Amino acid sequence: MDITAYLKEKKTMVDSYLKSYFSPPSEPSVLHEAMKYSLFAGGKRIRPILALASYEACGGNPEDIIPYASAMELIHTYSLIHDDLPAMDNDDLRRGKPTNHKVFGEAIAILAGDALLTEAFYMLSNPPSPPFAKGGMGGLLQHSAFSIPKSTILKVIHEVAMAVGIHGMVGGQVQDIISENSEPNKDTLSFIHVHKTAALITASVRIGPLLAESDNDTLHALSRYGENIGLTFQIIDDILDIEGSPEELGKSAGSDRKSKKMTYPALYGIEMSRQKAENLISVAIDELKIFSSEADPLREIASYLIKRRN
Ligand code: IPE
Ligand code: IPE
Ligand code: MG
Ligand code: MG
Ligand code: MG
Repeated sequence: MDITAYLKEKKTMVDSYLKSYFSPPSEPSVLHEAMKYSLFAGGKRIRPILALASYEACGGNPEDIIPYASAMELIHTYSLIHDDLPAMDNDDLRRGKPTNHKVFGEAIAILAGDALLTEAFYMLSNPPSPPFAKGGMGGLLQHSAFSIPKSTILKVIHEVAMAVGIHGMVGGQVQDIISENSEPNKDTLSFIHVHKTAALITASVRIGPLLAESDNDTLHALSRYGENIGLTFQIIDDILDIEGSPEELGKSAGSDRKSKKMTYPALYGIEMSRQKAENLISVAIDELKIFSSEADPLREIASYLIKRRN
């Protein structure tokens, strides 16, 4: 399969849904502008794409779950806005543009992040009826027979809340910040990466089988796939911070060393970090052995993550 074409097609589906969702203006307009600024600055959309591909692996039609998948991107974008703040990583460049606080100021950047996080849960709890992918609010409001039971939606909300709060992303971000300038150690490093990055990626993968109401074996296999690619994602991010350029990455390079972050290359060196990432990807792909070709996009995404240059 052509993974580049697959990623492009799915990114277009998510972007067109988000464009429609955010096209009606809201007041105060500066909040609306600040949210849209970071959301449409050009992210890869890998988390929503994983949700769509995972649902597809479970026999579903990706178009049916676009709002749930897109909500993951709202949460991710909020995390980036806050991650870049002067009190956190203090970065000036994100997605090829000045960071949110550089344009809108710190107060609005913090509140735009808060609003994106909250809107994600609104989106999860109250998605419009499909089909969503056609663009325009007309498309958003069209009715279809497809619907997901409320009890399933509640499971998804529970899953996402667990993944991004105290026991997930925020916990990991706190450990990342308080570990700056400390001697790297294996357990703390693993805690940081598993929580700050792998948790949201794992949840994005898991909402596929949850929404498809798949059996426990399927959910278990996809969870293991998500955990392994999630950790790989942050290891590669650490390596790119050393090897990449701001032009390629759309964000500043070398910022981890400057802040004395606890990273994989800092503890293991680049070569061993890459080896660990490759091993994790092999495990992730192996976890998909219960699937046949319906999981090919997930297999290809795993291979792409190790080769990515941004
Ligand atoms: C960057 O995420 C932050 C991490 C968790 C490593 P991405 O590399 O997915 O960033 P975008 O969304 O493409 O900008
Ligand atoms: C960010 O990790 C993880 C998040 C939860 C946002 P990094 O701080 O390494 O992400 P970048 O390199 O700034 O994108
Ligand atoms: Mg950070
Ligand atoms: Mg950062
Ligand atoms: Mg980084």
